[in-house]
Amino acid sequence: MTSTVIGSIELNEDRLRKDLNIHKSFPLIKEEYDDFSSGTWQNCSLWNASEDKDDTLFQDRSGGIKITEYGKALPYIQELVTTHFCFEHLIMVRTRNLIDGMVIPHRDFVELDKPVEQYYRVFVPLETNENALHSDEEKVFNMRKGEVWHLDAALIHAAANFSSNSRIFLCLDFSFDGPFHPKEIFRNEKEYQPSSIINQLTLSTPDVELEKELPATFATILTDYTFRDVLFLLSKIHFEQQIPIRAGYDWLVEAAHLTGDEKLYEKAQSVRDFLIYNRAFKESLTL
Ligand SMILES: [Fe+2]
Repeated sequence: MTSTVIGSIELNEDRLRKDLNIHKSFPLIKEEYDDFSSGTWQNCSLWNASEDKDDTLFQDRSGGIKITEYGKALPYIQELVTTHFCFEHLIMVRTRNLIDGMVIPHRDFVELDKPVEQYYRVFVPLETNENALHSDEEKVFNMRKGEVWHLDAALIHAAANFSSNSRIFLCLDFSFDGPFHPKEIFRNEKEYQPSSIINQLTLSTPDVELEKELPATFATILTDYTFRDVLFLLSKIHFEQQIPIRAGYDWLVEAAHLTGDEKLYEKAQSVRDFLIYNRAFKESLTL
């Protein structure tokens, strides 16, 4: 199932603003997958298994989660989480901000032990703007403030904020031991209100055959030095034009093949495989 709206939360603007002002003082820290984002990418752990605010590693550990220093510092957001969501299967709560940047297409959960269908990720935009976009294998969309989204992170997805305005989302991750119904994530199951009314973008149709043109074009400049820039540029096109979300990787691999540089070709394949097929827990890859 691709990403969809599953409910909405009415937000108290005054109380939210106070929390978001506090949030602005949280520092940027390095984290596991920084290499695959551009711009300002901030993840703050509000609840996690270790209780350590600087522990941003996504993992499925039994034993429940505890509120961190960041969670305690945000009383209204803390209340939103505890009022609306059930903690039984909750394994992590984070805020995420992305400014003037992009998280390139990838799949999550592939490094974890359980089948990906047993993980369920929820986003609630707390502060957003019309240039803050998400994409999945079917569409490009803008999540609106207060909507509760299921982001199917087991499918290929990406995020971008093509503006310098802040975009803060609450991200809740649930882990189940078997089949479940999404309404189980809410404290009050009646809050599960799926809706197909979303802010989906209309994309343009490419006027040239990109799969023929782009690999040859980029092969002329693709080197180790330009690799990251080419990857990010090719990954950006799907936010604007009707092409598959994974097309950027395929074009990168083809471009690398055309350079005749075997190492570059292997690197392009490794990056694609790491991000959208398979990786081991804590495995890292540098661009
Ligand atoms: Fe993701």
